[in-house]
Amino acid sequence: LSGPITPELAPPVADDFAFAFDIDGVLVRGGDPIPEAIEAMKELNGENEFGIRIPYIFLTNGGGKSEEERCRDLSKQLELEVSPGQFICGHTPMREMASKYNTVLVVGGEGEKCREVAETYGFRDVITPGDILKANHHTAPFRKMSEVDLANSRDLLKRGALSDIVIEAIFVFADSRDWASDLQIILDIACSKGGRLETRSTTFDEYPPIYFSHNDVIWSASHEFPRLGMGALRSIVEHTFESVTGGKKLKTHAFGKPQVSTFEFATRLLQHWRANEHGLVNAKPPRTVYFVGDTPESDIRGTNAMDAKSKEEWYSILVKTGVYQDGTIPAYKPRATVNTVLDAVRHGIKREM
Ligand code: G3P
Ligand code: MG
Repeated sequence: LSGPITPELAPPVADDFAFAFDIDGVLVRGGDPIPEAIEAMKELNGENEFGIRIPYIFLTNGGGKSEEERCRDLSKQLELEVSPGQFICGHTPMREMASKYNTVLVVGGEGEKCREVAETYGFRDVITPGDILKANHHTAPFRKMSEVDLANSRDLLKRGALSDIVIEAIFVFADSRDWASDLQIILDIACSKGGRLETRSTTFDEYPPIYFSHNDVIWSASHEFPRLGMGALRSIVEHTFESVTGGKKLKTHAFGKPQVSTFEFATRLLQHWRANEHGLVNAKPPRTVYFVGDTPESDIRGTNAMDAKSKEEWYSILVKTGVYQDGTIPAYKPRATVNTVLDAVRHGIKREM
C-alpha cells in the first residue's frame, strides 16, 4: 500500500472539481477489482498528463461490514489506501438514528457483523433474526440453525417471554443471507401489536418503522447477469404484507442512492475530506462533482436529482461494466456513457482541463 505523500513532494490538488464513485459494477465485481479501476485511481492520485491530484470519495449502497473493514477490503482490491474519511456505505447514514430507538431488529449480512456495526453506531439493544429463531425455532419452520448460528445468537428468553420484547424499529443493514426466515420475521413484526414479538394486530396499522439501507432491486456481482438485491426483498415484504392482511399497505423507508439526502451526506463528507486530506480548508465547494456509477435507477437518478437541487454541478457518468447493459436505454439519462471507470476519469479530467 502506498503511504501518505509528503506535502513538498505531493502534486498540486484540483480545487474546483472532484469525483465520487459507486463501487459494485464500477470498481469491483464479486470481490475482484475491475482491471481499469486500478489505473483510474492512479490517475486521480496524480499520475495523469497534468500532474494533478483530484479529490475523490466512494459512495456505495453495499454494506454488511464496518466502514473500516470495507475500506481495508477496498484498499487491497484497488492497491491504494482508502480511508473511512472518504467512504459512505448503505448503512452509514443509519448511524444518525441510533439514539432515536432503544430495541431494534437488525437484518442482513454475515453472522454477527451487522449487529456489531449497529452497536458501534450507538444502537443500544440490537436483536437479530437469529436471536428470535434461537428463542422459538417454530418461527421459520424450514430453517435449521447451525452450531455457529446458535453460538452467534443471543438468548432472548433470559429476559422473559418473547412477548415482553417490543421492537421499536427494523433496520435492514445489508443483503439477507436467508430471505425466507428474514421475510417471515420482518412480516411477523409488521403484523404485530406495535412491534411486540409473538403478537398479532387486528388492525395491521401499528407496525414500527422499517428502514432498508438502499432500494437496489438488482446489483452487479460475479454472475454475467445482475443479481437480486435488497430492493427486491423490500418489494416482496411490502407485497406480501398486503396479501396476508387482506389489502393493508405497508410503508417502508429506504436510505442510500438515489435519495438526495444520501448525496447531501456525501457532499459534507467530500468537504471534510478535501479539507483534511488535501488542505482545502476554507476552499469553496468544488464547482463540479463527477459521479461514476453503473445503475441508472440509483446512481444516475440520484446524481441528476442532486444536480437539479444543488448549487454545485453533479455530473452523472454511466459505465458499462455493471448493471447497465450496452444497447439498452437507461431509465435515467446520464450526462455521459463510457466503457469503464478509467474512461470516466479521463472524460472528467478532459472536460476540466
Ligand atoms: O448490495 C450492493 C449493491 O446493491 C450496490 O452496491 O456499490 O453498486 O452501490 P453499489
Ligand atoms: Mg453499482
